[in-house]
Amino acid sequence: KEHIAQVEKFEATSKEDLEAFRIKYLGKKGILNDFFAEFRNVPNEMKKEFGQTINALKTKAETKVADIREALENKEEDKGVYGDLTRPAEPINLGSRHPISLVKNQIIEIFANVGFNVSEGPEIEDDWHNFTALNLPEYHPARDMQDTFFIQTNPDVLLRTHTSSVQVRYMEKNQPPIRTISPGRVFRNEAISARSHCIFHQVEGLYIDKDVSFADLKQTLLYFTKEMFGKSKIRLRPSYFPFTEPSAEVDIYWGLNNEIDYRITKGTGWLEIMGCGMVDPNVLENCGIDSKEYSGFAFGMGIERIAMLLYQIGDIRMFYENDVRFLEQFKSVL
Ligand code: PHE
Repeated sequence: KEHIAQVEKFEATSKEDLEAFRIKYLGKKGILNDFFAEFRNVPNEMKKEFGQTINALKTKAETKVADIREALENKEEDKGVYGDLTRPAEPINLGSRHPISLVKNQIIEIFANVGFNVSEGPEIEDDWHNFTALNLPEYHPARDMQDTFFIQTNPDVLLRTHTSSVQVRYMEKNQPPIRTISPGRVFRNEAISARSHCIFHQVEGLYIDKDVSFADLKQTLLYFTKEMFGKSKIRLRPSYFPFTEPSAEVDIYWGLNNEIDYRITKGTGWLEIMGCGMVDPNVLENCGIDSKEYSGFAFGMGIERIAMLLYQIGDIRMFYENDVRFLEQFKSVL
């Protein structure tokens, strides 16, 4: 019985240890054979119990040897370069891209296909790149259009309110022809609701060359809405931006048969998707581009808004809550 306890406790980390154990109990001159030989000398009334006990010891020792041998063999396989190639793979739980990234990448690709590159810039900006160069001098009333987060008492340091600031930086460093889009995170001091947030994402576009006209702008936008939404009915409403002249708001006709559309369109069927216009000559000059030689157009859209339309998302706050039940729904989208 003491041996049974010892067998149960036995562990081996090498084949050699295991073999020594096997010989000790199950070998020709091993403990078990000694016991079996002893059987003859056991008094009759004890034969039954003695027999059962040595049989139990034998089974235990055999199982132990088999188990440890298998474990050691598995371990050896793992050590090989590829292990056992026939073993089924562990299931891999894949993550998914965030819908903002998905839509951003899609927009980048659509414009890359017609020759736009991607430009990026800092989220913490100075007054010049976010406002002044864009034809918004100090005390210009249009500065109120974008409630700004200032992050120091020095009003020259702020969080960019749009990625137009990146376009300014790009023009300062590059001469036309320019075709660039600027995706990025922007910040506005706005109340958080289902429709707006104080942090969101934009893609702005800039096209500057000789003889660029409003017709080029319209055709580029039409190309974009067709590629992005598969819809080609758009309209341009006159609007105002300090950095473009003339300026327009772009609406897309989405139809009237969906509950979420009603929430965004307020029942008209037309959805505003972006702002655009011909770059104001003052802006070109501010950035070192000769406005007599060159002209161009610019546009800007919110990625969240495009994503909400595309995926029928009713509340902008869902993008920032990181609820996996929301995020997992984009697993199949590449
Ligand atoms: N910068 C504008 C905004 O953030 C969008 C825009 C870009 C409008 C370019 C016209 C031209 O609202």
